Amino acid sequence: MVTGGAGFIGSHLVRLLVKKYPGTLIVNFDKLTYAGNLANLTDIEASPNYRFIKGDIVDEEFVMSTFETHRFDGVIHLAAESHVDRSIVSPKEFIMTNIVGTVNLLNAARHYWNGHYEGKRFYHVSTDEVYGSLGDEGKFLETTPYDPRSPYSASKASSDHLVRAYYHTYGLPVVISNCSNNYGPNQFPEKLIPLIINNIRHRKSLPVYGKGLNVRDWLYVEDHARAIDLIYQKGKDGQTYNIGGNNERQNIDIVRTLCRIMDRKLGRGEGESEKLITYVTDRAGHDFRYAIDSSRLQNELNWRPEVKFDEGFEKTVDWYLDNQKWLDEVTSGDYLKYYEKMYQGR
Ligand code: NAD
Ligand code: DAU
Repeated sequence: MVTGGAGFIGSHLVRLLVKKYPGTLIVNFDKLTYAGNLANLTDIEASPNYRFIKGDIVDEEFVMSTFETHRFDGVIHLAAESHVDRSIVSPKEFIMTNIVGTVNLLNAARHYWNGHYEGKRFYHVSTDEVYGSLGDEGKFLETTPYDPRSPYSASKASSDHLVRAYYHTYGLPVVISNCSNNYGPNQFPEKLIPLIINNIRHRKSLPVYGKGLNVRDWLYVEDHARAIDLIYQKGKDGQTYNIGGNNERQNIDIVRTLCRIMDRKLGRGEGESEKLITYVTDRAGHDFRYAIDSSRLQNELNWRPEVKFDEGFEKTVDWYLDNQKWLDEVTSGDYLKYYEKMYQGR
């Protein structure tokens, strides 16, 4: 069972698993919120080892009955409300999906596995944001104390604690990973990189929060999917693994780089898109810097990110330009209302 498999990271993971393990049935359980999109999976939807189930992890009875039917031996749990800005406007949905939904899955796994844990695994996909905000120096280790500062990261931290509690209390075979910012194809354009690409395309202003000096550590989404597969197969029960790309960039550098690449690819004059950059009111409680130390994953499981930042960036821009229909579809209707509410008067 993969939860949230129709979303950004989930769809890359489902594709990898369906192709790599043809003898294993991969069930994608997803509510199809605004962020879930089956168009992300059209290339593998007819595969004999793939099934989609539309369902809400907050619906305890349905989660239980799905386990009853499928008797999953593994769960990789990605379903979440994932956007920090939305969590600031409306925290409750984050509490429901990210905390209550996670507990429902833990309870179902515990009930159906019923102490027979051989060959079973519950993998919880989490974020580096649980560790809080760094200054100019240092990196997050797996032992860094939790210090979440947004409703989103607080809900993810809470779910991490619950997953660990089920390991210690009931012996449930869990693993957790905490990853840095992902980028790549199929990311919903509420997040920085696809939002900026989409706005450059439409010659709309490019909203940079505060002074644009906040730092994120970027990882190409397929490298994250490969790390999840590796940890699922080889990670130790009860263990946490940090995943990161070692690619720290200030937001303003990300935006300027996108402007340069897009001007070149769209045949626009040099510096044309940079004129669209607009500094807007900062995000409330904006974490200054994230940076991941992934040496445990590198040393113990021999993982390395494969996609270099420059290459990943070119590939990402190419994908959005080649898939403008996808962008147009996800940015129509409710997206316009969202955009207006989030950015008007900022
Ligand atoms: P996303 O918002 O693109 O996708 C989330 C998916 O979950 C969607 O398909 C949505 O329909 C589904 N979903 C939401 N609520 C649901 C519910 N109640 N029941 C069933 N399905 C539901 O998210 P993403 O960026 O792909 O992130 C996936 C996971 O990875 C999340 O748990 C997130 O916290 C974590 N993560 C994300 C990043 C990142 O940079 N995007 C980095 C580290 C960790
Ligand atoms: O670190 C992992 C996290 O990365 C994941 O857990 C989250 O699910 C994911 O959304 C992401 O969170 P961020 O808040 O870092 O990502 P976002 O793309 O929203 O913002 C990246 C940076 O860009 C952040 O410093 C805020 C800034 N920003 C964002 C938007 C949407 C802007 O300056 N302007 C914008 O319009």
